[in-house]
Amino acid sequence: MILYFSGTGNSRYAASLIASQTGDELMSMNDILRARIRGDADARYDFHSDSPFVFVCPTYCWRMPHVVEDFLRKSRFSGDMRAYFVLTCGKSTGPSAKHAELLCGELGFKFMGLSSVIMPENYIALFDSASYDDALAMIRAAVAPIESTGRMIACGRTIEDPNGGYTRSLHTKMNETFYKLHISDKPYRVTEDCIGCGQCETICPLANIRLEEGRPVWDGNCTQCMACISICPRDAIEYGLKTRGKRRYYLRADGSQLKKD
Ligand SMILES: Cc1cc2nc3c(=O)[nH]c(=O)nc-3n(C[C@H](O)[C@H](O)[C@H](O)COP(=O)(O)O)c2cc1C
Repeated sequence: MILYFSGTGNSRYAASLIASQTGDELMSMNDILRARIRGDADARYDFHSDSPFVFVCPTYCWRMPHVVEDFLRKSRFSGDMRAYFVLTCGKSTGPSAKHAELLCGELGFKFMGLSSVIMPENYIALFDSASYDDALAMIRAAVAPIESTGRMIACGRTIEDPNGGYTRSLHTKMNETFYKLHISDKPYRVTEDCIGCGQCETICPLANIRLEEGRPVWDGNCTQCMACISICPRDAIEYGLKTRGKRRYYLRADGSQLKKD
């Protein structure tokens, strides 16, 4: 079973490429998280798989996003308890593999390794985004390594992280500080270009956005996945002044980019 979390589509696409090699069932943590947060009666907590579990997600400050770790802690897993992790990243995953291994120990999984793949940067609240053509080249270059990881998983081999490092230090304090300083929805605002279409509300994996008089309001439970700001058809969402003039990046499920330059 492959469970993926994705803000702007990179990890969803990576998960689907892995599924094309393993034949595994694909499940969206985004959908399940939303259902859990809304308190839906059919929100899922139990997962059984006769093949290894594969968790696919972005890297947030050299580690799996906290929402993903929390998701795993609050779930019950059974069946084949081998666990693989595949992280997409803009540049490097740091000690993510070590964190994943520790989490496996905590949750009773057998850690089979973490691999990562560089994909277009989505964190426009801090960094610049790639142009359409540069992003396209990165996406194309990512396909072969992801499929190769998928084949390793299908064969039951262990996998390793080509973009990780610094495993002697877990950078835990740095990650905590990063979350305190940067993971906040307070700076989000909408401009007069907002047409009240509600796509931001629909896409938020944490059900953190509601429309008030046709305009989005953020409710304080944000993981900074960049989905809302990236999906907006009018580029009407800004993060303070940091995102002004920056290209929004979003990868559709079929691997094509939503927006041209
Ligand atoms: C809050 C945040 C923190 C990030 N931290 C890192 C990081 O530590 N290292 C890195 O290489 N990329 C980092 N990125 C970039 C994403 O991991 C990368 O673009 C990823 O492929 C996005 O996946 P998604 O489209 O599935 O959401 C960060 C992105 C965000 C939004």
